[in-house]
Amino acid sequence: MSTTRIGTAVVPAAGLGTRFLPATKSVPKELLPVVDTPAIELVAAEAAEAGADRLVIVTSEGKDGVVTHFTEDPVLERALHAGGKSHLLEKVRRAQGLLAVESVVQDEPRGLGHAVACAEPVLRDDEDAIAVLLPDDLVMPRGVLETMARVRASRGGSVLCAIDVPKDQISAYGVFDVAAARGLGDDLVQAPGTSDPDVLQVVGMVEKPTVEDAPSTLAAAGRYLLDRAIFDALRRTLPGKGGELQLTDAIALLIDEGHPVHVVVHRGGRHDLGNPGGYLRAAVDVALSHDEYGPPLRRWLDERLGRGAGTFDPGATVADARG
Ligand code: UTP
Repeated sequence: MSTTRIGTAVVPAAGLGTRFLPATKSVPKELLPVVDTPAIELVAAEAAEAGADRLVIVTSEGKDGVVTHFTEDPVLERALHAGGKSHLLEKVRRAQGLLAVESVVQDEPRGLGHAVACAEPVLRDDEDAIAVLLPDDLVMPRGVLETMARVRASRGGSVLCAIDVPKDQISAYGVFDVAAARGLGDDLVQAPGTSDPDVLQVVGMVEKPTVEDAPSTLAAAGRYLLDRAIFDALRRTLPGKGGELQLTDAIALLIDEGHPVHVVVHRGGRHDLGNPGGYLRAAVDVALSHDEYGPPLRRWLDERLGRGAGTFDPGATVADARG
């Protein structure tokens, strides 16, 4: 079956992370761990699995640790080796073995569209598409990029990942106007070669609409397979919501100009790691399936929530509870 080869994956990581202050004052949010693995490593592994051989991290001053995570640490590795801690050594080496990592600097956080545009100078001449993965978004299980690559091979243009969100939460997202929602049902097709998510043609896109103005409940989920034409569209896009250069606006421009854009609707899980509430849910979700941490966490949660349903007083201190 034909597929688009994914070479370079771009990970924008130059945002301020304001929703996660004060932690993100000195720790980049991309390094906050989901159980024991930083989000940046999770997206790198996802990109590598989809065939990418290079990760371009868009970073900013003071966030060097995000790239350092992918470099060798000979002193640490020697110490682990000498201590016979081969399991930890394997974990420490995992990131650097995934794919080649380089970075470009976004001098100011001028929006996601601007961050993506910063990667253009380092693209290889023969690359006609790039994958973009937002490290804030944990999309589970992995594999949606592979489906998106097959859709691009059959339909051309750009392919994005969508999730179906409750209508009252839609204003937090970039939202798709899809052909099926306009009664053009022929555009609803099964993703080639999978029994998995649907593929829909996108006829418009709007960033953070009000509930009334939202054209659908399908929201952008932080995975993009973008035709190289996106860079030209970004150059022709003016700053939008919040004075930032929005990737959504550049994609909307491409759609208006007849560039084919489709979404793969991901029916699995998705967590927003960019705010403490979503991050906590992700950590619990991932930990519950962890061989070592899962069973005791489940027992503790059962006990904790069981007490909450009956006599547990959330205002009581530990000392009160002990009597
Ligand atoms: P977000 O808006 O979710 O991240 O952008 P943020 O700006 O860091 O977070 P808040 O809103 O202040 O809490 C999505 C992704 O795009 C990157 C972010 O690092 C994040 O991974 N981004 C955003 C950039 O690289 N540059 C920007 O100018 C804006």
